[in-house]
Amino acid sequence: MILISLPIRFTLLVWMLLFPSFVFAQNGDPIAGKNVFRKCQACHTVENGKHRQGPSLYRVIGRRAGTAEGYKRYSEAMKNYGIIWDANNLNIYLENPKKALPGNKMPFVGLKNIQDRYDVISYLEQVAK
Ligand code: HEC
Repeated sequence: MILISLPIRFTLLVWMLLFPSFVFAQNGDPIAGKNVFRKCQACHTVENGKHRQGPSLYRVIGRRAGTAEGYKRYSEAMKNYGIIWDANNLNIYLENPKKALPGNKMPFVGLKNIQDRYDVISYLEQVAK
């Protein structure tokens, strides 16, 4: 029964109390994410086929990078990225786009706050339904 020793269990408990956002970090809030998305709106919409400086992010999760229909301004780097966007790789890309994919031309510094990233990702998941 006692697989985890008592001091370790206690340490884990303290961690969970001190850093709930660390333990429950996967929980994005789509309503907060809509606010975060204001930072993206100058260049992106979430409407199908409506592109600005950046491609529409309608149903971006589950889509192959660099393939929004009708968007002509992709960099070679994005066209050749080859990944399917999911919560995990979006999290990495949005933290620091230039570092995640050198040569991509999204002129955005990134979202440094992890909760902001989870929130905006969960907003993008929501609007796709
Ligand atoms: C100043 C304009 C600008 C802002 C602000 C911006 N983006 Fe972008 N975004 C772009 C451009 C341009 C591209 C295309 C990059 C390329 O082809 O290299 C892009 C590409 C993307 C892609 C890849 C899309 C695809 O079809 O593969 C995602 C995802 C993305 N942006 C998400 C975001 C999110 C989320 C935010 C806000 C937190 C944001 N962007 C803010 C301009 C912007």
